[in-house]
Amino acid sequence: MAELSRRAALLTGGAAALGALVASSPAQARALVGWNWSPSDSVAGSGSGVDPHWVWDADGDPLLASLFERGLIPRVNELLWNWERNDQALPDGLPADMRDFLEHARQLPAWADREKLEAAAEFNKARGIYLNLCNGPGGGILATAIPKEARAVYHSAGGADMEDRVAKTSRFGFSVGALNAYRPDGTCVVECVKTRLVHAAVRHLLPQSPHWRNGAAEDIPISQEDMLVTWHTLPTFAMRTMREWEVAITDDEAEAYLHVWQVTAHVLGISDEYIPATWAAAHAQSDQVLARNMGPTPEGVTLTDILLGQLAEQTSPGSVSRPMCNALARYLVGDRAADWDGIPREPVWDRVIPEAWPAVVEFREGLITAPLVPEAAWALDEAVRQYIYFYLTKGQETKIVIPTGNRPE
Ligand code: HEM
Repeated sequence: MAELSRRAALLTGGAAALGALVASSPAQARALVGWNWSPSDSVAGSGSGVDPHWVWDADGDPLLASLFERGLIPRVNELLWNWERNDQALPDGLPADMRDFLEHARQLPAWADREKLEAAAEFNKARGIYLNLCNGPGGGILATAIPKEARAVYHSAGGADMEDRVAKTSRFGFSVGALNAYRPDGTCVVECVKTRLVHAAVRHLLPQSPHWRNGAAEDIPISQEDMLVTWHTLPTFAMRTMREWEVAITDDEAEAYLHVWQVTAHVLGISDEYIPATWAAAHAQSDQVLARNMGPTPEGVTLTDILLGQLAEQTSPGSVSRPMCNALARYLVGDRAADWDGIPREPVWDRVIPEAWPAVVEFREGLITAPLVPEAAWALDEAVRQYIYFYLTKGQETKIVIPTGNRPE
């Protein structure tokens, strides 16, 4: 582990937030380091210590496979369409095994702490612009630099309609960041449980795709390790990035923010023995799993291009240029992931954004007054706010449903 961290520092120079997360190539990293993250560092405090590369969803996967075999997915989707609130009773008519699964899956873990969840909601409100930027475009662009995820998304049904997929993901993002996320009238539990169902369906469907399969057990998508990788591109990346931007964050806020994502991980189906108990444990785990799971793919390049095109076109027509989006994405995720994703270099904006964004942060943090903020920073601030508005409202137009097939040929 220490060796890998040293390599990481040498290879990346330790500059960007992601630089600290990613070491060498996935293959090199896997050869260098096995799985040595200890379950004693998890919220469970103990566990088998099995490499999460070889663990999926022991309860959800057989259930979804069986629902597919029984031809029940369309009916289940219909029944769950209006199941939305955390406290809402399940609809009548669900198959008994599914009802049992959902009743169990919707329970918050015994270690969930209501006070911390409330504090996290306040933190999400106060720091919404940074969090939405990191978890929306930041997490989205990082996901395309994770080969297994980029390929899974591209070859699944949603890969053919990225606008809808982004909207569904934003629905999830909105529910996690909402003030009432885990209160009875919130929606986060339902969105997480539905996402867990979608992932179990993808594990059933994707191995049937000729574009995915090559017969190895490893090729069952969305292992616990894969889930952890994506998880670290969300809260861990956001926290590291905000620290790098010198956003003032108290220890209590940091702990609360970690907690809401620990609970979210649990309800998404990540096993407690892999959920980091502290930020130190999260950083150690993220250094290990991101290093062995990131890199370039043709699918990732295509998806990035689609995502950035959407961002530029749809935020508010004409107001945000594609070069600005490209440069903002590069600034967020760093050169290494940006190059893997094939994001073009932008001679003007690549120079402007690293100067303008820190001014936006300083102004928002009350460290400088408006006259000291350069013109370009206002344009950037406005673009980011428009994007976030677009991103958060998009989710209201759609719902998360279980896919019934892969990407059409
Ligand atoms: C679907 C979130 C990890 C692949 C979804 C959806 C959400 C989501 C909200 C529903 C939106 C939709 O159906 O399009 C998350 C979160 C993760 C995570 C929060 C981890 C913390 C992963 C990983 C992979 C993956 C690791 C692959 C390696 C997919 C695929 C779909 C999906 C293929 C379905 C797309 C379709 O409908 O065809 N995920 N995901 N996800 N996710 Fe994840």
